[in-house]
Amino acid sequence: MTVTRRALLASGIAVPALPPFAMAAPAVPYLDSGDAPAPFDIVPEPPFVADPSLLRLDTGWLFHKGDIVVPQPMGHEDTYHAAKAGVAPGAAGVAWDDSDWREVVLPHDWAMEEPVDPTANVAQGYRKRGIGWYRRTLQLPPEWRGKYLEIQLGAAATNATVWFNGINVAHSYSGYTAILIDITPYARFGEELNTLSVRVDADTMEGWWYEGAGLYRHNWLAVRDPVAIVTDGLHADPRRVDGRWTVPVALTVANNARQAATVQAEAVLFDAAGREIGRATGAVTIDPLDRGEARMTIAVADPKLWSVETPTLYRVEARLLRDGKAIDTRATRIGFRDLRFDAGTGFYLNGQHVKLKGVCVHQDHAGVGVAMPDALWDWRARRLKAMGCNAIRCSHHAPAPEMLDACDRLGILVMDENRNFNPSPDFLAQLEWLVRRDRNRPSVIMWSVFNEEPMQATEQGFEMVRRMAHVVKELDDSRPVTAAMNDGMFTPLNVSQAVDVVGINYQHRSYDPFHAAHPAKPMTSSEDTSAFMTRGVWKTDLAKHEMSSYDTEAADWGLTHHQSWKEIDTRAFVGGTFVWTGFDYHGEPTPFEWPTTSSLFGIMDLCGFAKMAFHLRRAQWEDAAPALAIAPHWTWPGREGQPIRVMVLSNADTVELSLNGKSLGKQKVDRLAMPEWQVPYQSGRLEAVAWRGGREIARTSVETVGAPVALQLIADRRTMLGTGTDVQPFTVAAVDARGRVVPGADARVTFAVTGGAVIGVGNGDPNDHDSEVEPVRRLFSGLAQALVRADAGAGTVTLTASAPGLKSARVMARVVKAEPLPALPPTRPVAQLTDWKRSEFVATRPDPLRVYAKNDMNSLLGARPGRLEQSRDAAAVWSTYRTTFVPRRRVAEQGGVVAFAEVVGRAEAWIDGERRAVKSDPAAGPLLVPFPKGAGEHALVLLVQAEPGQPSGLGKVVAVRER
Ligand code: GAL
Repeated sequence: MTVTRRALLASGIAVPALPPFAMAAPAVPYLDSGDAPAPFDIVPEPPFVADPSLLRLDTGWLFHKGDIVVPQPMGHEDTYHAAKAGVAPGAAGVAWDDSDWREVVLPHDWAMEEPVDPTANVAQGYRKRGIGWYRRTLQLPPEWRGKYLEIQLGAAATNATVWFNGINVAHSYSGYTAILIDITPYARFGEELNTLSVRVDADTMEGWWYEGAGLYRHNWLAVRDPVAIVTDGLHADPRRVDGRWTVPVALTVANNARQAATVQAEAVLFDAAGREIGRATGAVTIDPLDRGEARMTIAVADPKLWSVETPTLYRVEARLLRDGKAIDTRATRIGFRDLRFDAGTGFYLNGQHVKLKGVCVHQDHAGVGVAMPDALWDWRARRLKAMGCNAIRCSHHAPAPEMLDACDRLGILVMDENRNFNPSPDFLAQLEWLVRRDRNRPSVIMWSVFNEEPMQATEQGFEMVRRMAHVVKELDDSRPVTAAMNDGMFTPLNVSQAVDVVGINYQHRSYDPFHAAHPAKPMTSSEDTSAFMTRGVWKTDLAKHEMSSYDTEAADWGLTHHQSWKEIDTRAFVGGTFVWTGFDYHGEPTPFEWPTTSSLFGIMDLCGFAKMAFHLRRAQWEDAAPALAIAPHWTWPGREGQPIRVMVLSNADTVELSLNGKSLGKQKVDRLAMPEWQVPYQSGRLEAVAWRGGREIARTSVETVGAPVALQLIADRRTMLGTGTDVQPFTVAAVDARGRVVPGADARVTFAVTGGAVIGVGNGDPNDHDSEVEPVRRLFSGLAQALVRADAGAGTVTLTASAPGLKSARVMARVVKAEPLPALPPTRPVAQLTDWKRSEFVATRPDPLRVYAKNDMNSLLGARPGRLEQSRDAAAVWSTYRTTFVPRRRVAEQGGVVAFAEVVGRAEAWIDGERRAVKSDPAAGPLLVPFPKGAGEHALVLLVQAEPGQPSGLGKVVAVRER
């Protein structure tokens, strides 16, 4: 949650005094005046820890762009070995040389690093995507042996294959679904390292928008007791039955131990102030490798309800106890609210009618693509709330959990959507995962199973949705299932009959006939509008690929903002609107193509800067707080005397416009149309005053400004968290000699930062081809944005913006000490030799250079470092250990050493037929075997002589490293 400084102080978090430097004005500037003030003095709440067994796995990764294809094995021996577990070839395997790979910190979207390219896919924003590989070495402490270990990859755009220690452990067929991998059976501990390899295929497309490329969400390692709550295994979603509230709690518990287990379960409910207000207990017995469920119910008298205006969150903490000792805990935030859709009058939350004033969103932002920093979700949600928006449709896929966290906290209703319309098992699993993950969230009010599927009008489509809806209902019986239809709702059998609430995309002419034909079927617009605006542009110029902000342009299948809201607002039976879209996004540059690379549909641009539509929607949607804005700006040199169309966007009863103190008349506000004037241009000051009930409620103005002389930087918040991951957008504008923002300024701004890093830039211009990752950006319609990540620890972020001919600007944000989430530390990859063959013990010294037939799979035995061998015959003391290795690049260039951490027995080490080291002491000890430079495969043989009757062999790990 965003909290005030006072709340932060009360919470005991250290907040240093405000630094003694001037801070910029607390507003995200909108050049046409009237922008909603930004909550400047807020600090993001430290992340809510729902699962304390999780360690972040975002650092320590190596990345390779492009595919790595290795030749197929040809010989029988190679083919035989390649078919075994643990020996995946190439970069999927443990031994692959990744020493030249680039270090990356996740979330990562490699497509954002690519230049736009006219030969690439238009819908994906003209960025080449391709294939990429990630690898991560994991060192797991020995005390984790016996624990349940699970790797969680937040999402991989688009498809992915995952190997752990050379074993193929997961495939992902959706770029929006988490990949959960139980690595318990394959994990190695202590000095033995583990290798995670991920091949991400971003050539596969699941959407017709920018989808990014890579591991673009957070990643985790879960370390749990062998008997533990499964991932997303805490289900707690309040119910009101006969006016009484309860929290039914179901805990899904898995037993990975080797014996059956009986565990006690406990669920505790805390109110918003952290006071315990109820608890319940249960128990469950689970067979080994099975799952069980503990069900409990907590009764609650008179809870504070969760609503759009007051999103009160409670917390359920579930504990698992074994012999009285807590072995696992999980927490979830819940809200007490109930909902229903009425076929005649729309949506009700807690019995109160709520018209859905929603937007569709994709998940990318300027500068970072789909690798969205957590704080940016919060920022975007605040921007939407400031507009009076109360709903989001996650079009057309599962959103990042951090986005839903923001919706729960801020009171935004969510249509949670599935990507793939497909009830076959692999794809149904994606839908199940989504519902399991999100079914505790008060914000989520509907499950959408598809968007605009051509099979919607058919019996097959109906049967598919019927199955998908059934799966949803099995997991959650409280929220309606919907589907976003753009056709087919009048055929005899179609998907509208398989859903609870019909979603209609566009097709506003179908609203009335559909309602007339199905008066008992609730419906909502699931998508509408698709209007075009280029921020700060007031005249459509098709040649320049620019669209006017006067709300005159819309797609053929869409409507302008004015028209669309009118169709929906005037029909009580339409649950509400989901405007396409809240924010511009990369890709889908409709109605244009190259050189336009991002969309123009947004109410806000790609940076979240307000277009005119923001003020229009705010004036239409916000009923309480005064809304008043003037459009356009008032700097039109050369247009003196010519009429300028002026819009006033307000939720007042009456507004009056005046120019340079002279009234241009009063108008009653029709909130569907909004007052307009034709004003002959004269430089100066255009002012609007708004009245409600005869009382002035707001006043705003726009002024004719002079030439830009300086830059201005504006922070969103003056405080950042020193977790090393907090990010905030800074706005840069150019101002005239009197400090007023210059609407048309287009200076090229260079950013420099201390105490942090610029991780991306943007300006909202769909036609700008400059890099979004270099710290340089041209102002577009007067504005640009830099996304800055603060370094870890307490300190100050200082951002400077400079441009030729303009005075530079500097802004600071203080960084308060905050604990980062616990993480698995990075481990440097080391080439370890893990796969060995050993000969039987013999009584006389064997020939270390003996050659075994290629097709001989059985004369040699398996051996592993860390496992000593004992001869059954005291006289048979000799054995050989063999393996092969390909040195990593640096070692191949310079020569290296095979380092046996511990050999037990006397030993000789032979590499490529030459004896290179001898260990004459039979006691356990290290052995270093130098070898010369040279690429290619080396054959290594260790001849070991045991002490009679004693174990011998490879006591510990064996590594190949530089000398
Ligand atoms: C819809 C579709 C959206 C987007 C939009 C553009 O048909 O659902 O994803 O493409 O059109 O107008």
